[in-house]
This record gives sequence, structure tokens and C-alpha cells, in this order.
Amino acid sequence: MSKSLTVAVVGATGAVGREMLKTLHERNFPAAEVRAFASARSAGSKVPYGSGELVVQELKEDVFDGIDIAIFSAGGSTSQRFAPHAAHAGCVVVDNSAAWRMDERCPLVVPEVNPQALADHNGIIANPNCSTIQMIVALKPIYDAVGIKRIVVSTYQAVSGTGQKGIEELERQTRDVFNLRDPECKTYPYQIAFNILPHIDVFLDNDYTKEEMKMVNETKKILGDDSVRVTATCARVPVFYGHAESVNVETGKKMTAKECRVLLSQAPGVKVFDNPREKLYPMPLYAAGTDEAFVGRIREDESIENGLNLWIVADNIRKGAALNAVQIAEELVRRDLLGVKDRNVFM
Ligand code: A2P
Repeated sequence: MSKSLTVAVVGATGAVGREMLKTLHERNFPAAEVRAFASARSAGSKVPYGSGELVVQELKEDVFDGIDIAIFSAGGSTSQRFAPHAAHAGCVVVDNSAAWRMDERCPLVVPEVNPQALADHNGIIANPNCSTIQMIVALKPIYDAVGIKRIVVSTYQAVSGTGQKGIEELERQTRDVFNLRDPECKTYPYQIAFNILPHIDVFLDNDYTKEEMKMVNETKKILGDDSVRVTATCARVPVFYGHAESVNVETGKKMTAKECRVLLSQAPGVKVFDNPREKLYPMPLYAAGTDEAFVGRIREDESIENGLNLWIVADNIRKGAALNAVQIAEELVRRDLLGVKDRNVFM
């Protein structure tokens, strides 16, 4: 591919934004120019890109003229406000926040799972929640082979999912504990160091958290199947990078653990890492910095007729956010889907 595109990263100073810049460069994305945007606080500062640096510019409504693709990871309110201006300028947005995911006008895409949904885009494409991405990439082959009736998932999510401030909180509190100081809680409601919080994002009227309901609703939207029943419990654990998930699946027809291992070992974006006798199973420490969703502990659920248990681990900043967003951008280029047909859909 010739390097002809102008690409923007919005939220370039954040944990995901920095990884997006790294991923664009590593994967040799066909960009003639990359522009970095963040809030006024960061304007003029520099972020690494390849062997050089980019000067961060302040995000404003009128910056999108001449930009082909803007990858956003600057929080929901920033996406809500600025993504429509980008689409209006003809710039296609790939948005990592939750702002547009359930909007019917926006495809919600995992390239290994539903790339065909990109064809109908109106200028804003949503990147799913990190926990949903790594689960669905491993479950889609099972769904296609034998059907899925119900999913019960429990997550163990790293602090980097909260952004730079989550990483800093775990670092600071760990030092505080070892120095016999009272750990200060700035980002989470309780101490995260040496603790587990069964609470990610805000609580809703049904007593689930927003994160849990994201997993429920996004899974159905990506599969395009409302009949799949999903229930989730999401917990934050004192791990820097890499989300882990215990996933129980009730399938439509029987699939043995052996069949599941063979199927998933051929699935794009998935790596089976499953040898109990050799004590081989996926862990955040080893998934960090990698691209795949690692699947292990594959077992038949002996409590029901057709069921499987899986343990899925992925780097939440890479496949869960930056990599998936860059893969969406690559797919847009490959399918010749840049440009916005009706620039007024979101205005
Ligand atoms: P800034 O560093 O200038 O605050 P993280 O998720 O790691 O906390 O990163 C959030 C990213 O979103 C940062 O790059 C941050 O920039 C950016 N951001 C936050 N608010 C805005 C805003 N109003 N306009 C543009 N970028 C924003």
C-alpha cells in the first residue's frame, strides 16, 4: 500500500493513545502523515512516534479537514462532542470510547469477527469494550460451529483499563503499603493494591455495573444475535496489563474440549495455550505486549449437557483497544471504505 493517508490519533498522550501511535508505526500503516491531538493541557508537548516525536496539538472542532482517519481514545465526552465534527469534515472516526457503541448508526467491529459491518458506516465506527473484544474473538468460531445459547463470564481486569491514572494509582499505593503509609485512593473508591474491586464503571438501576452491561449488549450487537443470553461480573485486580476472563458457554450442540482446542488453534487472532499436565495456561504477565487472545483451561462443563469452560487472557491495551482500532483502520483501507457519504448523519 502506498503511504498516502493523513491519520490523527486523538488522546495521543494517554495510555491507549500512545499504544495506538506505536501500533500504527509497527504495522507500517500507510500514513503519509500522523497528527497527535489531546487537550489544551498537553498542546506543545511531544509523544514518541517511530524513531521520532510528534508535537501534540490541541483538539478543536475544526482540526479534521484533510484528515482521512481519526482514531479516538480520549474518553466518552470528547468522542461525543468531536467525532460528529470529524465525520462532517469527511474524516472517518474509529472510536475507542463507549460513546457510540450502541448507536444504531455506528458499526461495532472486531475485524476477525464482523468486518462486513464496516460496509454500512456513516463516518463513526465504534471499537468495542476491551473485555468484549478478547471474549468474542475466541467465542465466534464456537458460535459459528455449534451455536451459543448462553455465556456466563467473570473478568479479572488490569488497572491500565482505567488509563494512565489507574497505572499510577496501583504503583503509588504499592509503594505506600511497603513504606507503611496509608494508601491514598484517588482513582478507585477503595485501595486497589493487594485487593480486588468487584466494581468497574458506574452501577446501574439493575445493580449491574455499566462495564458488565457493556459485555452483555456489545456481544449481542457484534454477533447480530439478540437471542444469545449473556451475564457478566467484572472485577478490577491489581495487575498492570492484561485482562483475564473465566468464560462458561452453553452451546447449541455438543463440542468436546478436544474439538474446541483444534477449532480455536485455527482461529484468527486466537492462540491456544492449554496443557494442564505441563502447567501451561494463559496469564496476564505473559500476554502483556502481545497481540492475540490466549485461550487455555478448556474443559467440558460437566454440570450441563452442552457446555465449555475457557480461560481467556489478552493485553487490554493492545487487542482490547489500540490494536483492534488500528486493525479496523487497516480493514477500511483494504475494503476501500474511506470517506463519508452523508456528512450530516451525526450533525
Ligand atoms: P491530556 O493528556 O491532554 O489530558 P488516559 O485514558 O490514559 O487517561 O488518556 C486520556 C487521553 O484523552 C489523554 O490523551 C487526554 O489528553 C485526552 N483528553 C482528555 N480530555 C480531552 C479533551 N477534552 N480534548 C482532547 N483530549 C482529551
